[in-house]
Amino acid sequence: MIEFDLKNIETPVYVVDKGLMEKNLKVLSQVQHAAGCKILAALKGFSMYHFFPLMRKYLSGITSSSLNEARLGYEEMGSEVHIYAPAYRDDEFDELLGYCDHFVFNSFSQYEKFKGKTLSAGKECGIRINPEYSEITTDIYNPCFTYSRLGTTLHNFEPEKLGGISGLHFHTMCEQNSDTLERTMEVIEDRFGKYMHRMKWINFGGGHHITRSDYDIERLIRVIKHIKEKYDVEVYLEPGEAIALNTGFLVSSVLDVMNNGMDIAILDTSASCHMPDVIEMPYRPEIIGAGKPGKFSHTYRLGGLTCLAGDVIGDYSFEQPLEPGDKLVFTDMAHYTMVKNNTFNGVNLPSIAISDGSNVSIIKTFGFEDYKRRL
Ligand SMILES: Cc1ncc(COP(=O)(O)O)c(C=O)c1O
Repeated sequence: MIEFDLKNIETPVYVVDKGLMEKNLKVLSQVQHAAGCKILAALKGFSMYHFFPLMRKYLSGITSSSLNEARLGYEEMGSEVHIYAPAYRDDEFDELLGYCDHFVFNSFSQYEKFKGKTLSAGKECGIRINPEYSEITTDIYNPCFTYSRLGTTLHNFEPEKLGGISGLHFHTMCEQNSDTLERTMEVIEDRFGKYMHRMKWINFGGGHHITRSDYDIERLIRVIKHIKEKYDVEVYLEPGEAIALNTGFLVSSVLDVMNNGMDIAILDTSASCHMPDVIEMPYRPEIIGAGKPGKFSHTYRLGGLTCLAGDVIGDYSFEQPLEPGDKLVFTDMAHYTMVKNNTFNGVNLPSIAISDGSNVSIIKTFGFEDYKRRL
């Protein structure tokens, strides 16, 4: 829970707490030690590089999805740098070779195209497989949905082209527990087990909600050890969300209150710009001190600053009526927020701050130049 003084804080601002971050990192580090695996931070979920020195103490490196993420990880974290992208660009590949140690290719055609350069630079190459098994029910987050472009299915797998490949990679999970991993692994072993014996490493991708309170860590460790021992491979995990889960807040202010059949409050933030997963996923973020509609006496629809009719964060109830100037604190706002936000409608980006439990320090602010430079 945050204890910092809300009164003097300028909004909107993402506040990420160092103590909460370190708590997550310690859990991940314990998993690495107990299971004998390596955990990489997926920068697509959380790239606030202020924390990279802290993350370096506990994790084995980063994984990236683009030249920019690879470079950020290389320059600011400096340990193992992995990369996977559905396809690589010719004009970026040489630069990538300077940053990354492990390259995961989406298809054998991509591998054939880049393997000469990659292997002669002494880098490790892997293939992303699509086991065609996932328990994700939202298609937009399901890498195994029909006609997926993500990974090579068994039908498209070309064992005769495995020369030079040292690892297999899969990513089929999202916010899931280790029972899902266990079932997924049974399918993967069944379909790709005979190739796993020939590998040096297997990358289990992301989607492991390891730092959630009900996550079954013992089962995760069992699955990792089973794969390590049976196939004599190194195991990598590359969670994004689990790194920063429940470590950040988005503090916003009420700008206006109106009624159009129900009470509505307009905030100085936006679902569309500052927490896009609220619309995309979709999900309802928690607000400290607020409840579901009707739980407390005063229920409001909370809306954002843009002209998008659907820029609505959700309906919440409060003990007291909301008034302009009131501060609202959204929880769990560190991952998939800063990395995805945008300036639609010219809405400014929230500042970025760190907290040490009691003090908040702003480390980044944004303004007109940031908006203008992108256009
Ligand atoms: C290939 C790959 N690895 C890792 C991740 C991180 O997943 P998460 O943040 O759900 O742990 C993703 C997320 O989309 C991904 O596509």
